[in-house]
Amino acid sequence: MSYLEKIDKTRLPRHIAIIMDGNGRWAKERGYERIFGHQAGVESVRQTTEAAAEIGVEYLTLYAFSTENWERPQAEVDALMSLLVDSIQRETPTLNKNNIRLAAIGNLNRLPAGVREKLQACISETAKNTGLTLVLALSYSARWEIVNAVREICEEVERGDYLRDEIDDRLFAQRLTTRSIPDPDLMIRTSGELRISNFLLWQLAYAELYFTPVHWPDFRKDDLYRAIYEFQRRERRFGK
Ligand code: FPP
Repeated sequence: MSYLEKIDKTRLPRHIAIIMDGNGRWAKERGYERIFGHQAGVESVRQTTEAAAEIGVEYLTLYAFSTENWERPQAEVDALMSLLVDSIQRETPTLNKNNIRLAAIGNLNRLPAGVREKLQACISETAKNTGLTLVLALSYSARWEIVNAVREICEEVERGDYLRDEIDDRLFAQRLTTRSIPDPDLMIRTSGELRISNFLLWQLAYAELYFTPVHWPDFRKDDLYRAIYEFQRRERRFGK
């Protein structure tokens, strides 16, 4: 029986965030270059996005490129960037057909101009869609985002916009790149690593964490449904 049939559709996580890990290992295990794993991972992105949209999840955030990923060999960075642009461009009509809105978080200024333009074009072309919001974390790291927020708040206090004592967690959250997105209810990491790796450190405060040994290129719809099913079996207490 598919996990889809076991899911209670009235208690879905509103926001699922995924660390897509294991592309390199998946490729190496098959004797291929790492980039082959990234290419295979695009199909998992497609399947996961479709599954999330079909079941009625509101937000899906995918960690597609971390700040640390800039340190990878130039050839791998270039290949990942081309893969991203090509996929985004090719999938824009499908996103529209499925009423999916694209958004992006991260230090987008660091992306090559061509990538940024195509990303912005897809964001604009899908802006009116009202179904799933697909958020790509690109050149993203949570510490970068938090330091950025602190700088912004310091400037506002110096300008006299508000007093230091008026800073609270609500105001802080409004200075993060996720300001218009609810916190994730469920965080999935593939490929067996049990770490958060600088991903949404503030926003994951109360998220349920789910780890699976499946490498990202093997991740399919039923793997997402299983994660949602396991999420529903847990009791969330928010510290109460
Ligand atoms: C981690 O695997 C994966 C990435 C750094 C990139 C993920 C990118 C894609 C799936 C391609 C396109 C994405 C979109 C949104 C179209 P890894 O290389 O760290 O694997 P390893 O830990 O086995 O080395």
